[in-house]
Amino acid sequence: MANYDVIVIGSGPGGYVAAIRCAQLGLKTACVEGRETLGGTCLNVGCIPSKALLHASHQLHEAEHNFAKMGLKGKSPSVDWKQMLSYKDDTIGQNTKGIEFLFKKNKIDWLKGWGSIPEKGKVKVGDEVHEAKNIIIATGSEVSTLPGVEIDEKTVVSSTGALELPKIPKKMVVIGAGVIGLELGSVYSRLGSEVTVVEFLDHITPGMDGEVQKQFQKLLKKQGLNFIMGAAVQSVETLKTKAKVNYKLRKDDSEETLDADVVLVATGRKPFTDGLGLDALGVKVSDRGQIETDDQWRTNVEGIYAIGDAIDGPMLAHKAEDEGMAAAEVIAGKHGHVNYGVIPGVIYTHPEVATVGQTEEQLKDAGRAYKVGKFSFMGNGRAKANFAGDGFVKLLADKETDRILGAHIIGPMAGDLIHEVCVAMEFGAAAEDLALTCHAHPTYSEAVREAALACGDGPIHS
Ligand code: FAD
Ligand code: NAI
Repeated sequence: MANYDVIVIGSGPGGYVAAIRCAQLGLKTACVEGRETLGGTCLNVGCIPSKALLHASHQLHEAEHNFAKMGLKGKSPSVDWKQMLSYKDDTIGQNTKGIEFLFKKNKIDWLKGWGSIPEKGKVKVGDEVHEAKNIIIATGSEVSTLPGVEIDEKTVVSSTGALELPKIPKKMVVIGAGVIGLELGSVYSRLGSEVTVVEFLDHITPGMDGEVQKQFQKLLKKQGLNFIMGAAVQSVETLKTKAKVNYKLRKDDSEETLDADVVLVATGRKPFTDGLGLDALGVKVSDRGQIETDDQWRTNVEGIYAIGDAIDGPMLAHKAEDEGMAAAEVIAGKHGHVNYGVIPGVIYTHPEVATVGQTEEQLKDAGRAYKVGKFSFMGNGRAKANFAGDGFVKLLADKETDRILGAHIIGPMAGDLIHEVCVAMEFGAAAEDLALTCHAHPTYSEAVREAALACGDGPIHS
């Protein structure tokens, strides 16, 4: 048994970042992790492996579609799937080992095994019980499936199974046009699968700006993804090596069936808190399974904090990280803070989609007077040279004060471009502040400036 100032349960982006910040602030810290490797969902079966496959498959797409136009001739590369998976696994390994190194550097003990909280101030791992003045729960989330759909990780897979399929399927049906469905659907579509996305709603990516949703779906269709919208999946039948997806169209209740070699279930995730002993401890959990906290990540039980996917808010790695740092600071007696109004969201398809702040629909619903500054990447020299003219930057600003309220970008490097708007929003900037900032030429970020100019006297290049 050992005594700690803090024990963090879970080593995903929330947990490992919390542990590092606790250690940096002079607290004796341990982190419990039940997986073989550190880094949680994100590093092992989420953000990192999916981005590796998106990168590799995008290179193939570029070779097939754009190389010849630039005078790069020769046969397009063929896919060595085993090697692509091993590149993905190497990438995971480098990242998870990186966290192990950071734990050693910061003198954080990795308590290997599944943790539970038998009572306040105690964490049990295997047969050992450790004492901790503070406990941070960062146990993340798991796949949430549908009634009538059983995931076997062979024919009917979650994102985890989709990241290690034995072969590239001929036909893939994706249930859910959310982030996972569109990212992994894009990967397999680029690698040659016939991908059909079945979505319950009439639009893709719920919660995103409507104009972005429309343009995004149009571009994905152009890339070969098929969409069946307004369709509620009722069940999936698995045959020997194939599956049948049964769905009902909401407009007329008609029942239809799709055949697939692989079905990817991407209908959301739910908090994972099994085995922690929260019931017995009396830790409050919402109807949706999220651990309830105050605005400083304290649960209702003294000395127990919770962060990341296990609590309310967007299920994003950087949101979990920010909460991890802030909770550590609160425990150390400092002022941890997260600005939930400025958390970017990015979809790493091609083009990328990035969003921060409020959407036009939200502003309308709130009855807020706003203005829109929009600029197409067609008017951006760098984008034209790089065959990346599809998409736009849309900036929303208060009609009276010009203060930036949101930004929605679909286009090249959108996931990086969004951050200048995030910084501007953190500083309470006006669109004019971005418009008056000199942007290097030729860069994609000039499109952000042009959108800001469009909130004022108008953009130059459109
Ligand atoms: P997790 O990363 O889920 O980590 C929790 C850890 O706790 C796990 O390792 C688990 O084994 C461990 N654990 C649980 N219970 C116990 C216990 N009792 N004892 C010991 N250990 C325990 N987000 C992004 O921002 N960008 C992306 O590009 C992105 N891509 C994604 C792609 C996919 C396919 C998926 C599935 C998710 C993706 N996400 C992405 C979401 C992101 O992975 C999560 O938001 C993030 O991992 C949440 O971090 P966390 O620390 O809360 O939990
Ligand atoms: P999601 O919530 O993004 O999308 C789920 C989709 O499934 C929705 O569009 C929903 O309407 C649809 N759906 C639900 N029930 C259905 C049914 N019966 N039939 C047809 N469609 C149905 O969830 P997803 O994609 O599984 O992602 C889970 C989480 O992982 C997200 O919260 C996301 O934040 C995170 N993530 C983030 C990434 C990123 O930041 N780039 C990448 C991947 C995941």
